[in-house]
Amino acid sequence: MAAALEKQRATTQSNEYGTALAKSLFIRTYGCQMNVYDSARMADVLAPLGYGLTDSPDGADMVIVNTCHIREKAAEKTYSELGRLRRLQERKADEGGRMVLAVAGCVAQAEGEEILRRAPNVDIVLGPQTYHRLPEMLARARRAADARDGEAVRGVLDTEFPAEAKFDHLPTSARAAGPSAFLTVQEGCDKFCTFCVVPYTRGAEFSRPLADILGEARDLVARGAREITLLGQNVNAYRGEGADGGPADLAALCRALAEIEDLARIRYTTSHPRDMSAALIDAHRDCDKLMPYLHLPVQAGSDRVLAAMNRRHRVADYLDTVARLRAARPDLALSGDFIVGFPGESAADFEATLALVEAVGYAQAYSFKYSPRPGTPAASLPDQVDEAEKSDRLARLQALLAAQQHAFNQATVGAEFDVLLERPGRHDGQLVGRSPYLQAVHLQAGGAQIGDLVPVRVLEAGQNSLAAERRAS
Ligand code: 5AD
Ligand code: SF4
Repeated sequence: MAAALEKQRATTQSNEYGTALAKSLFIRTYGCQMNVYDSARMADVLAPLGYGLTDSPDGADMVIVNTCHIREKAAEKTYSELGRLRRLQERKADEGGRMVLAVAGCVAQAEGEEILRRAPNVDIVLGPQTYHRLPEMLARARRAADARDGEAVRGVLDTEFPAEAKFDHLPTSARAAGPSAFLTVQEGCDKFCTFCVVPYTRGAEFSRPLADILGEARDLVARGAREITLLGQNVNAYRGEGADGGPADLAALCRALAEIEDLARIRYTTSHPRDMSAALIDAHRDCDKLMPYLHLPVQAGSDRVLAAMNRRHRVADYLDTVARLRAARPDLALSGDFIVGFPGESAADFEATLALVEAVGYAQAYSFKYSPRPGTPAASLPDQVDEAEKSDRLARLQALLAAQQHAFNQATVGAEFDVLLERPGRHDGQLVGRSPYLQAVHLQAGGAQIGDLVPVRVLEAGQNSLAAERRAS
């Protein structure tokens, strides 16, 4: 989930409703892939109203800031961005136009009214569960603005929690899908790790019915997707309504998706070690379309810290799960998330994290300094670790993880596998795709197109990517 902390942006330029492309919509997306997915859905909901995506907020008719509460100082950063956007709104008003400003996502959910109070230039505040009502909110915001033109306008707040409604009302898009698409299958989290805001901002776990997901997956494949990544804050806790009305788990969902002929690859993220069931491990053994790469955050390598984090498993449980996964799928590559400097983490606890990393061997990983999130239990724990100590531990952990990533990439030199081509490379005739292990792979296209799955041989490996040559199919 850590692509996670990068800044991302919806970049699609136009919508399929032709005539109505009169209004421009800019969406700034922070946070995880679920936010990227939500931003795309918001664009879909607004497309029939004539909004087409643009890649700059300057002059846009509507700007949505889709926020992430996991970012450090998330609320403060949101307020400063809203302040900067106010200047663009003023410029637009000087030109006789109006820029509608909406704040979405987890900060919107958490701050609600406070945003409307502190940033009166905001027209709409909507939580992650109310995107389908965006057109209605927009109409209400416009009516409010028209009624009191020139005065400060009271914004519209909609941060309710029922997740089902949102999925029921989201339209499917007619736009071509990229070769690799995201599909949200589960939202929310009931785990309450003591450092994390997600259970508060995204609410209780909710899983979409299997049939709805299959429908959306078939639609994505019909529009060109060859790979689907199933998204959920706690995706392997998925328990949706199955075909027979009983519950279906993630293993059943993956098996059902694998039946879609033109779908070549299935991935899912993010998983909790506790929910790595025997059935799901078996699916990794049996289902070729399930890619041999798993993001399985452990956060820390000391039982004491894991308990304080309320992770509900021990180090030995995690190592056992990894061993069972690797027995089922020997080439499985692992990725993880780590937090260093959790309150009370001693030097020995940290060494235990390094030892766990050594024992597992990660292909890729994300690591963070613990940072207190207001309202979470860990924020008020005694024994907060000194900032310099956290930096030191993070640097040591990252050096180890970087070395493992490099070694993992190096070990694939000479390997042969298929690459799903996703985008043009920087050099002429070059395309970039992903290996089964999610590595970026650069190659000379030689007639192959984006969306093709081509057999390659790996020639060279770097820290973050591979160079490969095509083999005859
Ligand atoms: N401090 C540091 N890292 C955090 N994460 C979540 N909350 C915090 C926090 N308070 C990290 C976890 C999680 C990832 C998405 O972000 O490692 O798995
Ligand atoms: Fe946050 Fe823990 Fe839930 Fe992951 S499992 S979303 S870290 S509370």
